[in-house]
Amino acid sequence: MVKKQFLSEEEKELAEVFIDSSKKPIGYEANVVVTGRSKKKLLERKSPTYNINVRPRVIVVEAKDKGKAGFQLKNIKIGKNDQCEDLSNVYRLGCVYNGRRVKMHHLGLDVGTKTIVVAYRNGNKTDYISEINGYYVFERATPFIENMLNDPNKVRSDGTQRPARWIKLENGQIIVLGRDAEEFAYAKNDTLLRPMAEGGITADEESLTVLASIIHGLLETAETELGQFDDELKLCYCTTAPAINKESNLSYHERVVNMVIDNYESKAKISKNNIKESHAIVLNMSQDGTGIGISWGAGTVTVSYVRMGIEIYSFCWVGAGDWIDEQVAMRHGYNPERSKTRSKIAKETPTTIAKRKTEVDLTPGSEPMDRVGLDIVLHYDVLISQVIEGIVQGFNENEAQARIDSGIDIFMAGGTSSPKGFVERVAMKFEEKDLPFSIGTVSRADKPLYCVAEGCLKAAEMF
Ligand SMILES: Nc1ncnc2c1ncn2[C@@H]1O[C@H](COP(=O)(O)OP(=O)(O)OP(=O)(O)O)[C@@H](O)[C@H]1O
Ligand SMILES: [Mg+2]
Repeated sequence: MVKKQFLSEEEKELAEVFIDSSKKPIGYEANVVVTGRSKKKLLERKSPTYNINVRPRVIVVEAKDKGKAGFQLKNIKIGKNDQCEDLSNVYRLGCVYNGRRVKMHHLGLDVGTKTIVVAYRNGNKTDYISEINGYYVFERATPFIENMLNDPNKVRSDGTQRPARWIKLENGQIIVLGRDAEEFAYAKNDTLLRPMAEGGITADEESLTVLASIIHGLLETAETELGQFDDELKLCYCTTAPAINKESNLSYHERVVNMVIDNYESKAKISKNNIKESHAIVLNMSQDGTGIGISWGAGTVTVSYVRMGIEIYSFCWVGAGDWIDEQVAMRHGYNPERSKTRSKIAKETPTTIAKRKTEVDLTPGSEPMDRVGLDIVLHYDVLISQVIEGIVQGFNENEAQARIDSGIDIFMAGGTSSPKGFVERVAMKFEEKDLPFSIGTVSRADKPLYCVAEGCLKAAEMF
């Protein structure tokens, strides 16, 4: 989607050049400052700032220094963005905020396999704080590494100049957290490690420490930077649902998250609840709280049938965005069993596929022609079919409660639902199946990555 201020193809091209030249992954968010000579047309506009949404995030192109003709790539710099002001009201872990702090009574917390998001009310709108649920390990702390991480002048992954976010373990390991970790993984052509997989915490030793550090960091940013907690704060977080295609231990994961939240030190008395993430989607998107919510995430696709705000049945399908990344990469030479050097040998890795997914067009009839693009579409097809079969099975098993006469609306969110044509493809698949119920509308949230957290916030307000 292109923002209002975006006027010409020329500017879009320019923005893409900036992204390339900054050698950052696609989706990198930056405040790009044109310091050199630039296109006259661009500079002559009244406002020197252009907001261009480049797959998939917003970058700010700021035209400064009205030069002569011509545009020089080498003059492009990633600018300082220490205000932490984001156009879409999505803040980052640990951001420095100078605005009016909001009094917070309720929080929504989406603890996702790939992304953790906090949602809070700011007047009549909702704001978010988000962080990647990932980490990068330096096996041995050295003064050089520590100095590099602590350097306050280095421009970090989000375009801000600040020290990186990291922790040191007793065994001497250094663990870089979130987006900063992703930056190191990209720079070293390595894999970003994650404390969660398939919707639950992993067995790795450091997982609990990492998950707690990220969640506590987000809560602290909410409490001490962007807002202030009320004496009593209600928090609702979400989880996936029991899986229909794999053994899972959801109760254990829930206990871990409860413990992490309970261990957060705050002046406020925090009471907590949890719901399924797909339940949260229905609470957020449906007028009457009725419909089928589908959260298309990284580790799982979670589905809930909700009637008048109450969850009737839920399940999850293990294997979602991460599954597509790995499966497609494997078809192109990636071997998950190989040592860490694998990413340098294989032509495609889950990381390159995840990037490519952000450009894919799933519109039926507009499939990409190249093998990688086509393989992504085919895996999307398999995933969508499996999920729809699960919905039918769930409906049949819960027939007495699930039955309704009119068409059931489908509400969708989650990063995996982002590509163009996704909604049409899902609607088409529903049409192809012989369903025991009729479908009303099929829709996707405007902000697929933030809808679940906002639904949790609404749930927190109801408890
Ligand atoms: N623009 C995009 N196009 C395609 N896929 C995307 C896009 N943005 C994110 N994704 C994919 O979405 C997934 C992350 O989505 P999301 O943050 O909703 O998952 P999560 O909530 O962390 O995971 P889960 O719900 O399984 O615990 C990743 O697989 C990522 O590659
Ligand atoms: Mg999710």
